[in-house]
Amino acid sequence: MNLYKYVSDKLNEKLGFDAKLEIPRNREFGDFSTNAAMVMARVAGKNPRELATEILPKIQELDFVKSATIAGPGFINIRIRDDFLWKSAESASKITKAKKPLIIDMDYGAYNVAKSLHIGHMRTSIVGDMLYRLGRVIGHTMISYNHMGDWGRSMGFVIAWIERLHPDWPFFQPDFTPNGDCSQYTIDPVELDTYYPSAAALAKTDPEFLEHAQIITAQLQDGHPGYNALYNIFMPISLESMNKTVRALNILAFDRDLGERNAAKYSAPVEKMLRDKNLLVKSDGAEVIIVKRDEDKKPMPPVMFYNSRGAHPYDATDIMALYYRKVTDNPDKVIYLTDSRQSLHFEQLFRVAELLGLFPADALEHIGYGTINGADGKPFKTRDGNAAGLNDILSMVQSAVRDRVAESGKKLDDETINMIALAALKFNDLSHDLRADYIFDPNQITSFEGRTGPYILYTAVRLNSVLRRAGDFEIPKTVELEPDERNLVMELLDFDRTVQSAFDGRATDLVANYAYDLAQLVNTFYHNCPILRDDVATDTRNKRLTLVKIAVDVLTRVLDLMGLKIPKEM
Ligand code: ARG
Repeated sequence: MNLYKYVSDKLNEKLGFDAKLEIPRNREFGDFSTNAAMVMARVAGKNPRELATEILPKIQELDFVKSATIAGPGFINIRIRDDFLWKSAESASKITKAKKPLIIDMDYGAYNVAKSLHIGHMRTSIVGDMLYRLGRVIGHTMISYNHMGDWGRSMGFVIAWIERLHPDWPFFQPDFTPNGDCSQYTIDPVELDTYYPSAAALAKTDPEFLEHAQIITAQLQDGHPGYNALYNIFMPISLESMNKTVRALNILAFDRDLGERNAAKYSAPVEKMLRDKNLLVKSDGAEVIIVKRDEDKKPMPPVMFYNSRGAHPYDATDIMALYYRKVTDNPDKVIYLTDSRQSLHFEQLFRVAELLGLFPADALEHIGYGTINGADGKPFKTRDGNAAGLNDILSMVQSAVRDRVAESGKKLDDETINMIALAALKFNDLSHDLRADYIFDPNQITSFEGRTGPYILYTAVRLNSVLRRAGDFEIPKTVELEPDERNLVMELLDFDRTVQSAFDGRATDLVANYAYDLAQLVNTFYHNCPILRDDVATDTRNKRLTLVKIAVDVLTRVLDLMGLKIPKEM
């Protein structure tokens, strides 16, 4: 139930005017306030306070209004009836479905084969997963793509490195014939992740090796049987490593693990479209698409479709991937989530899509997120100066949680520690404006107090334990609400609105911060309003238990949207 929208719609209907409804910081004088009278007075050339006096009785006619009063130069404060709030609270955790459900392709994660996931993949994974979940609960058809880097130049490096390690393997012999059984050629997943960096380092000093690796990439893409057979060995191993991290982060499995390799299959139809529209231009041995417009104020370089070696670079595969999505999902929207440093790439891509008539510009969206920095304000690195691996970050946070738990003298199992660590990591990531940079501090985010994931999780655990201890109870038909109870109900009835605005604005921080605000209000309520104490009357106890139940329902949904689970104890 979206209380704000309900009240706003009814009010506008009554006044025949689109008024702006505000939620006052201080609820002492009303739950909502509107400047409708002031705006209407301006239009009619009347005195605002007088006009407010005229429309007040109309507002009071609305059945959910307890009282309406005039304040200041003509603001109208509206208080909602307790019984109306009480009835509405029942459906606080329900989310209004989209009137026009869309098909939305989401491109996030987008990991690279044979390169382990690092801190640069953290936000795309965590935020992408939440946007996906948000879209789904609102009723859109969400299709997630792990658009893997699985076909580019790094593949040649990996194969060239394996050739150095195992020159005797058959894949490199000229007479290689695929016979299906490759079970004796095993590659260790952890070692696999070291091949690309080692090869890339060697290529820097050894031009012959570099040349060889580049030839391998080209031949792989051309269907070389040996290289392809080898690729088919290490590719699934790498995909399984990615999916292991995906599961460890408790993000939903991707609907499609389809990346550059899949896209490359569509190079012919895309090339034909480009040629038919005369969009390919020769430039220094390469073929490019001009996307610059006269009104451009900043540099807008051409998009390379064929490089001078005759290969398709990253830019080109993204056009093909869009083509693939068009002909398979035919989505209403495609949303990409990457580091903001790729903004230009997507601007160029979207222009090509428009030129090709594949997608209109407003169907394509790139969300560029900020950098995760260390305490020094520079991109977060491990002590050895490397980009921190995602698995390392997870263990770092887990051990910070373990230390805190040990300090407090509690004993929690590993599963619970993991749940808390994920809450710390994900809440922190989600609660920041995703377009801005933030500083990552494993110690701060694991605190059980303050604006942290563990604090929210702890609140939910505590509420669940109250309900367990209470056992069965009856839900009162009508109630009167005390201030702390009312504040809680109002916040609960703001859940649906928060979810809708978060999805519309692609602003996951709204939901994360809502979770925190809700947890705080619940704790204030719990502190000020005793529930299970002997001196609490049965009606009051039932009323408060009902509130706890609704709060748990909403909190559980919010945590689920963040991809978090509530432990049994904490
Ligand atoms: N694999 C790329 C990277 O790690 C990100 C790909 C993003 N998605 C896309 N369709 N270009 O930088």
